[in-house]
Amino acid sequence: MTNAVSAPAPADRRVRGVTPRLAIAAAVILLGAAAFNYRWAYGYALYHGHIAIDGRISGHGADMPSTAVACVNCHDPSPIAASGGRNVAPLTRASLLESHARRGGPPSAYDEPMFCSVIRAGIDPASVMVNRLMPRFRLPDAQCSALWSYVTSR
Ligand code: HEC
Repeated sequence: MTNAVSAPAPADRRVRGVTPRLAIAAAVILLGAAAFNYRWAYGYALYHGHIAIDGRISGHGADMPSTAVACVNCHDPSPIAASGGRNVAPLTRASLLESHARRGGPPSAYDEPMFCSVIRAGIDPASVMVNRLMPRFRLPDAQCSALWSYVTSR
């Protein structure tokens, strides 16, 4: 009397099952890495102005030229930024993820939704409004997420 359902799987069938599982795991890891690299590269292009983004001075009716609103213009040290006397903090993993007081508010740190909030509405994690020099951007979620991926990798 045999019971095919409850019988233990023969050892060789169990061994053969390992290879497809490994292949699936490898595919998942590779797809995850590809998606991350795509997001990072998209974020890099947005940050450096290689892809146009829509941003304007708070309260203004028209967008600034997309070459002017590229994040790199104000957030990375450059001859232009230096000559303009600006002192804008670089956007890095440490500057965003570590909790510290910003603009006189209580200590705060960013996560992705807060990062998108400050870029879109100018409101930081401690609910403090940022300076008008920081443009307000109309960014779809995918662009915001890509920028977050890029700046938190630096
Ligand atoms: C025209 C200059 C300018 C451009 C372009 C600009 N920023 Fe800013 N940004 C600022 C200034 C100035 C501040 C600081 C405002 C303050 O401290 O009140 C700031 C602050 C920020 C902060 C808050 C940092 C913190 O520690 O709280 C984030 C995040 C940020 N910018 C992201 C971006 C991103 C992303 C882009 C591009 C999509 C960008 N900015 C483009 C000028 C700029």
